[in-house]
Amino acid sequence: MSKLIRIPGMVDPHTHMRDLDWAHKATFHSETAAAVAGGYWAVFDMPNTPPNTVTRDALDTKLTAISAQAVCDWGVYAGAWQTDNTAEYASMADDCCGLKIFNNATTGNLLISDQGERAKHYAAWPDNRLIAVHAEGETVRDILALVRQFGKHTHFLHISTAQEIADLQAAKEEGLPVTIGVCPHHLFLTEDDVATLGAYGRMKPELKTQHDVDMLWQAIANGVVDVIESDHAPHTIAEKESDPPPSGVPGLETTLPLMLTAAQEGRVSLERVIDMVSTNPQQIWGLDCPDETYALVDLDATYTIDNSKLHTACGWSPFAGMAVQGRVVETWIRGTKVFDGESVLVESGFGRNLFGEGA
Ligand code: DOR
Ligand code: ZN
Repeated sequence: MSKLIRIPGMVDPHTHMRDLDWAHKATFHSETAAAVAGGYWAVFDMPNTPPNTVTRDALDTKLTAISAQAVCDWGVYAGAWQTDNTAEYASMADDCCGLKIFNNATTGNLLISDQGERAKHYAAWPDNRLIAVHAEGETVRDILALVRQFGKHTHFLHISTAQEIADLQAAKEEGLPVTIGVCPHHLFLTEDDVATLGAYGRMKPELKTQHDVDMLWQAIANGVVDVIESDHAPHTIAEKESDPPPSGVPGLETTLPLMLTAAQEGRVSLERVIDMVSTNPQQIWGLDCPDETYALVDLDATYTIDNSKLHTACGWSPFAGMAVQGRVVETWIRGTKVFDGESVLVESGFGRNLFGEGA
């Protein structure tokens, strides 16, 4: 039996594709291949891969590399830098999908921990592109104060606790321009899984309690969560086996099958899944889905997530061994079949920047 549906223009606004000085972890080609294998039309890349995307020069370096390699459409974030790179913003914003501010420590060395410094970045970033934030725990409230002050649309990435959801739900009720992203690892794993996963279950924000997980699912059901984003962050197996291991897990090829499995199990409606992986990110980032751009998915196909079948260069998944229902059988972008269920069918450089020149 097969039951085929088309999901229009999936967008993952939260990936770390590496390349450049971290090409040993993964490349724009390998990770955009993982994206189309995961059903995606477009993926947005974070700025914390060295050289950090914090100047116009560094942005140009990234744009050149990704343009030459990408097999899906894409966007890139500018990053807030602690030595104050705000003078660069006017020349960067038009070519970017947004500004990323790391407000808590994570992989890489981008971190703005002083509230006064954060305010400078909020003030300087142009209004035509949103601000995406890494903010955990109490920091969520600090950032909400800036949203209140500056009125700039802020997307809260990888929200993982019941308290953060409560604070952001209240912010939405207050009418603040905020949106919420949640990652599959925070929905399908808990802190108890670290005992078996070891370093492969380490990421920032860390895995949380079953209560937190339950509250995230409730927020999905209530319509409070806007986006399911992977926080795709490949590290090599050798790095994960080292001490201390880096934080981050891949997710581009497992997000949709995991969410479709949850839909089959009645934990979320299929309509909500499509909203959160497709319609909502398109709308939040102001994108029009091009004609003939969709993932063709077999809702009846069952399989086990298998490291050896992944396209990501890292070759592992924290979800390996999990049984899922829902397989991407084809991915189409702008009328071209880019993935046939096994292989990528287009050349490096097929993908386009959805922001800036030529968009
Ligand atoms: O676990 C994480 N890894 N969280 C982040 O915010 C960054 C990411 C990475 O780049 O490896
Ligand atoms: Zn991230």
